[in-house]
Amino acid sequence: MKAWQVARDWSIEGMEQVDVPEPVPGPGQVAVRIKAASLNYRDLLTIQGKGGVTGLPLIPFSDGAGEVVGVGEGVTRVALGDRVCPMFFQSWIDGKVSAAARRYALGGTRPGVLQEVMVLDAEGVSRIPSQLSFPEAATLPCAGLTAWRALFEEANVQPGDTVLVQGTGGVSIFALQFAKLAGASVIVTSSSDEKLERARALGADHTINYRSVQEWGKAAAEWSGGGVDHIVEVGGKDTFSQSLEAARVGGTILVIGVLSGFSQQIAMPTLFSKNLHVIGLSVGSRRMFESMTAAIGRNAMKPVIDRVFGFDAVPDALRLMQRGGHFGKIVVEFP
Ligand SMILES: NC(=O)c1ccc[n+]([C@@H]2O[C@H](COP(=O)([O-])OP(=O)(O)OC[C@H]3O[C@@H](n4cnc5c(N)ncnc54)[C@H](OP(=O)(O)O)[C@@H]3O)[C@@H](O)[C@H]2O)c1
Repeated sequence: MKAWQVARDWSIEGMEQVDVPEPVPGPGQVAVRIKAASLNYRDLLTIQGKGGVTGLPLIPFSDGAGEVVGVGEGVTRVALGDRVCPMFFQSWIDGKVSAAARRYALGGTRPGVLQEVMVLDAEGVSRIPSQLSFPEAATLPCAGLTAWRALFEEANVQPGDTVLVQGTGGVSIFALQFAKLAGASVIVTSSSDEKLERARALGADHTINYRSVQEWGKAAAEWSGGGVDHIVEVGGKDTFSQSLEAARVGGTILVIGVLSGFSQQIAMPTLFSKNLHVIGLSVGSRRMFESMTAAIGRNAMKPVIDRVFGFDAVPDALRLMQRGGHFGKIVVEFP
């Protein structure tokens, strides 16, 4: 079978397609024929050697969806033919986050989904909503779950709350969609007026171009009538101080990403004088994934896919992500 590896060095150019033997599930394991995978910014960082992962070769990408094609002895959770997603954290089924829960992450400390058949613990997969195609389901394990956990497991978004999402990448567009399902008002920022138009078509209530309005934090606070309740912070270096401006007294900043850089000076008094809740989070557990897929099923929600690439075009898909040319998710379909 075919797989993609980061093989020669940590770069997109260092990736190669290889032929490897098809794995066979042992007791308690399943074999999943991957039908589609999706890209996350984290995969781009990992492939470039900036994700803290060491040891070549690495099969990258955490997010995929496929069909169970092999079942090892003793497996009862899933059956042959089930449509499933592998979980981002293979080691986090339920309960609170811990170092042990975060230990095994696909496309990092465990081989990723860019392989035609992968063997996983049966506990490490979850069924996908029937209305979703494989490419749609492949968007859920990292970006979808991170947005879900931020809004409903860490924050408690309620109808009428204001949510701000930064940019129009995978996590942010999921956060927009989930926040609208919950009856919140959503502010979207973007570098592109055309993308902001698309965000409005998805239900965004207010949009700000962060290139032309550099003090967008103040603008968001004014629009929301005194400050935003929940901010999905994916920008990092260039956005965090504006998020502090945007937040209401007692508001929540959900720290998820580092799109513009890793560190930033923080005005400490803003944190305590505004009584802010600053919560860092990374992806989530299988139990959280299952709450999310139940909500997606109930609401017949469809993830937003920008483009689907063929399996041979993985490097092109990564370059599209690198230049931020997308809106929502980028997907790779398997042969
Ligand atoms: N902690 C976690 O568990 C977790 C999980 C998933 C993702 N992440 C992180 O979250 C971030 C987003 O991931 P993703 O996969 O959604 O990325 P993505 O799809 O690549 O998002 C790219 C988009 O982000 C926007 N952006 C870039 N720089 C920005 C800035 N300075 N201000 C506002 N928006 C900016 C741009 O939107 P416009 O083109 O509209 O301007 C760009 O198109 C990454 O840092 C990723 O590593 C973390």
